[in-house]
Amino acid sequence: MKELKQTFNEQFGEEGEKALFFAPGRVNLIGEHTDYNGGHVFPCALSVGTYAVARKREDQKVRFYSMNFPNQGIIETSLDSLFYKDQDDWANYPKGVIALFQRAGYTIPTGLDLAFYGNIPNGAGLSSSASIELVTSVVLRDLFGLSVDMVEMVKLSQRAENEFVGVNCGIMDQFAIGMGKKDHAILLNCDTLHYKQTPIKLESHALIIANTKKRRGLADSKYNERRTQCEEALKALQQELAIDTLGDVKEEQFDAHQHVIRDQEARKRARHAVYENRRTMKAVDFLNEGNVEAFGQLMNESHVSLRDDYEVTGKELDAMVEAAWEEGAVGSRMTGAGFGGCTISIVKKDHIQSFIDRVGETYTMKTGLEGDFYVVEIGDGAHKVEDFA
Ligand code: GLA
Repeated sequence: MKELKQTFNEQFGEEGEKALFFAPGRVNLIGEHTDYNGGHVFPCALSVGTYAVARKREDQKVRFYSMNFPNQGIIETSLDSLFYKDQDDWANYPKGVIALFQRAGYTIPTGLDLAFYGNIPNGAGLSSSASIELVTSVVLRDLFGLSVDMVEMVKLSQRAENEFVGVNCGIMDQFAIGMGKKDHAILLNCDTLHYKQTPIKLESHALIIANTKKRRGLADSKYNERRTQCEEALKALQQELAIDTLGDVKEEQFDAHQHVIRDQEARKRARHAVYENRRTMKAVDFLNEGNVEAFGQLMNESHVSLRDDYEVTGKELDAMVEAAWEEGAVGSRMTGAGFGGCTISIVKKDHIQSFIDRVGETYTMKTGLEGDFYVVEIGDGAHKVEDFA
């Protein structure tokens, strides 16, 4: 934080009133590829994330700097020309958020200077982009005294990603990052946006993230393909069932009517979406009863379904999860969009070090890659840290 303040002063000058803000990354415990299917998700905010120092300007200029991409220097634009530009790279995220606030009718009267620093491992699928979107949202609200609540900022941030950046993501990441609460996960119905913050008290267990270091590569096109297949399956099911989303379908209903989905692949995708949604609701019930083992078992089933029906795991995620199963994890699964990125596991607290050592070893043997491991600390959602001069 100190370094970020210094960097801000070096890049933009030290005069005037400034403020420091933070937005976390997120990890999803269960409920994968259900958000855009009108189902449930169960993510939590991390203690790592994106910091931003911000200051109002007197003119209409908007200037961005990131300590993570120092070679790109200051990226400058103005309030009346916020357009997507390839060469602006990471800065398209904060630009998109400002543009979406404007389009939604919020008045941004002057420009601003913004410096960022993020400590979420890059390309790991822990939502560094949604984190930068939400930190920008809280900056705008605070600097310009906007009357906008967090759920509205979550929606604007998602729209920035959909409409400005052009990534067709669901609402889970922005919601978890905006609405997160220390030591809680959020059970969110992505259709109604009803949510419940649930305490995560694992007592003698810990949550461990394992980064496969396999970057997500082709993920975006495959992500959109999965969305399209689910839409196709939904249309077919609607011939026989009065449903708005796949999240409305129960397992038995799906089994009885699945034959109307002609395309084999679309049928498998929909089966995952339906079963994963119900699994998520059951898993949270188990957790509330203190039954960590049963929760873990459903995490395992989630992975198998993502591997066999949704087909978004791949060799690295499978190797990491299998190694965790062999090492006695209570539950382990891929988390996020898939095709690379991270897994999440529940592990006995007194096994953490041996788990990390042995899973790491097996993973390297199988893939030639070196995994990274982090013990999860669940933190708060996006907020202002402090004002300073
Ligand atoms: C990505 C998207 C989310 C969600 C997950 C899969 O993280 O941004 O909206 O669809 O994939 O669960």
